[in-house]
Amino acid sequence: MKHIAILGFGIVGSGVARVLEQNAARIARTVGDEVDIQYILDLRDFPDSPYADRVIHEIAPILDDPGVALVCETMGGSHPALEYSLACMEAGKSVVSSNKEVVANYGDLLLRKAKEHGVSYLFEASVGGGIPLIRPFLTSLACDRVSEICGIVNGTTNYILTKMKEEGRAFGEVLAEAQRLGYAERDPSADIDGIDAKRKIIILTALASGILPDDGDVYAGSIRGITVRDIEAADRLGGVLRLIARTVLSDDGRVSAYVTPMIVKNAHPLAHVEGVYNAVSVTSPVTGDILYYGRGAGSLPTAGAVLSDVSAILSGAAQAEFAPVFLRKPGAAIPFGEQSFPFYVRAEGSAAEAREKLEAVCASVVRIGDGAEFETGEMTMADVKRALPDAVILPILR
Ligand code: HSE
Repeated sequence: MKHIAILGFGIVGSGVARVLEQNAARIARTVGDEVDIQYILDLRDFPDSPYADRVIHEIAPILDDPGVALVCETMGGSHPALEYSLACMEAGKSVVSSNKEVVANYGDLLLRKAKEHGVSYLFEASVGGGIPLIRPFLTSLACDRVSEICGIVNGTTNYILTKMKEEGRAFGEVLAEAQRLGYAERDPSADIDGIDAKRKIIILTALASGILPDDGDVYAGSIRGITVRDIEAADRLGGVLRLIARTVLSDDGRVSAYVTPMIVKNAHPLAHVEGVYNAVSVTSPVTGDILYYGRGAGSLPTAGAVLSDVSAILSGAAQAEFAPVFLRKPGAAIPFGEQSFPFYVRAEGSAAEAREKLEAVCASVVRIGDGAEFETGEMTMADVKRALPDAVILPILR
């Protein structure tokens, strides 16, 4: 029997217990032994749960129990998740995490600690929920050089943008509905301001390049300001509005990572990702484009990803995989303002004047419809802002 502990018995942690029960025989076959939950650490008690007798409120019994080989950290937040994870690894226990915040902020430290103590630190569930997305970087893609990652990695914002288009409803109204349905948190800022997606693209960037970008080096754009008018404009341009998380890795080791609302043209596969689904496209000069698609959130899909790490470690398979190392590299980040995109630009007032100002900084400016609306060729956001500081500006993904 292999004994594990779960830190945090919320949506993901309780899902881990459910999937362990549902798939017990299959997991035992993969691991080569039965897997049993020995401890559940949480601030709360769960008197009605079949695991009520395993709930504890301190980390010490887990650290002191040599029978616990692996700990699932499904707490969320940086602290005390970081301190508990480090302490578990110091005590010789491998850690599996679904916590994108702690991996994005401290992945370098956590992976170093795992190496020092000869244990594993895995985090398949931290990005893309149930989509097998992290392990391919450690296995099939380990010998490839990824040049770009581009995806929809936040289900809440994708649900909101999909509904705004389908039903022509305003942002605030759809956000309130998403909160009622339990997709969006009561404080939805991490999702709608791009912070959740930023953490996820930081992790994917680190997996692809070995460089863990600093939080401050990754631009995060919000969807708060998106209006029905913007959604309609995207439609007229032959596209849809999506919150895109993207990283471009240059040959010279520089990294450009950002999250921003974009008009995604219908020819692009990400234009067809709707509702709470996630999709991530990974590009390398050798393999070309690979598209990962699936449920990016939810108790069971995310718990399934946690258990894939559990079985990789307990079966010994993880030891055969490439163990990632994340390093900090100051100066590697290219600022978002220096990136070039084609843009959708909408100004108030005279279309002729707006066009003249845009043409002063961009060779290709095409007017759309009857107002001061344009699709530009490649230029930087800084240039568009200099030309038309008050305009609505949205980058386009073709
Ligand atoms: N809030 C996240 C989302 C949950 O909406 O995608 C999964 O990380």
